[in-house]
Amino acid sequence: MWPIRDVRYQVTHACDLHCPHCFAKADKPLPDELTLEEAKAMVLDLKESGMRMITLTGGEPLCREEFTLDLASFLGEQGIRYRVFTNGFRMTEEIASRLKKSDAYEVQVSFDGLRETHDAFRGAQGSFDKAIRALEIARDAGLRTTVRVTVTRRNSEEILDLLDIVYPLGISAFRVRPFVPVGRGKEHKEFIPEREDFENSFVRLAKVKERYPIQITFIVPHFTFVFDSSRKYDSEREFDGIPCVCGKTLAAITPDGGVRPCGYFSSDLGNVREMKFSEIWENNEFLQRMRNLERLEDKCMECEFLSLCRGGCRASAYENTGRLDATDPLCPLVD
Ligand SMILES: C[S@@+](CC[C@H](N)C(=O)[O-])C[C@H]1O[C@@H](n2cnc3c(N)ncnc32)[C@H](O)[C@@H]1O
Ligand code: SF4
Ligand code: SF4
Repeated sequence: MWPIRDVRYQVTHACDLHCPHCFAKADKPLPDELTLEEAKAMVLDLKESGMRMITLTGGEPLCREEFTLDLASFLGEQGIRYRVFTNGFRMTEEIASRLKKSDAYEVQVSFDGLRETHDAFRGAQGSFDKAIRALEIARDAGLRTTVRVTVTRRNSEEILDLLDIVYPLGISAFRVRPFVPVGRGKEHKEFIPEREDFENSFVRLAKVKERYPIQITFIVPHFTFVFDSSRKYDSEREFDGIPCVCGKTLAAITPDGGVRPCGYFSSDLGNVREMKFSEIWENNEFLQRMRNLERLEDKCMECEFLSLCRGGCRASAYENTGRLDATDPLCPLVD
């Protein structure tokens, strides 16, 4: 039994940007997004199931501003910890002050590199400056602010300079994740970081991170062996399941109520309009398979790094091959 702890709720499919890598393929709102009443009932059910934090994400949550702020206010009243993930484009003093009044735990703003790279990637001039401004507005409203960066083939050399720009703005965390070729990103294999990109970003960050008194985190399902030489692999190559929390204690909910193991998966396991979340979470057959995976395909089982990497990201593997036990296409050791 895996208790749900962390839920990523995509409040809308709408977005004012059109990033090529977007796992959510955000664009226009869906015709049947959950109503406020449905969303309130869902979060109460999730709270009862043991959820400790819900993230309001998307799409762009601030493209459905009133809904997001009303739900935020409800979450605050219910004492449910929540945070907002945003591209920062629409952040205003008024929004930040309402989030603060509603006890938001955190506002996370996304960056895809320095100004030129970020604006080109996000397809909107001025989006970098707006993201910076969003951090300042949220900070000035008294909110905890954090930054999320996606490492691609295009920005790996800019990550440390970006940290030096956002760190003085009072951020509490700098979260770095590799691009995963899912959603719209499936059509952009050219963004997949190569070995030198992992070295330019994650390895260099690991070396300087102690100098910054904030949380600097990276989730890199594989390649831990590249930047962390203290993690010796053992030659027994035992596979003891997937280390990732997705589908175990973390779930994603789509704008129309679909339940997924995480946002990187593109198919629903069920829908909260038809069934209680807890029923889907406890009984879904795909989730059972994911949680109890006993082996991966031979390439991984025979790989000397298996005990460190444990096969990479299952969503990346599944979305690109249709197999849960496949090797993650991000792996630099296979073609
Ligand atoms: C889908 S967005 C939703 C919230 C908001 N619109 C934003 O951009 O922050 C959440 C985060 O996921 C990141 N992201 C989107 N597609 C990704 C992918 N294929 N691989 C890794 N991160 C991705 C975005 O860059 C952003 O930081
Ligand atoms: S990553 Fe965020 S800002 Fe970019 S298209 Fe997706 S939802 Fe919009
Ligand atoms: S072959 Fe499999 S176990 Fe080895 S590094 Fe690649 S993904 Fe990880």
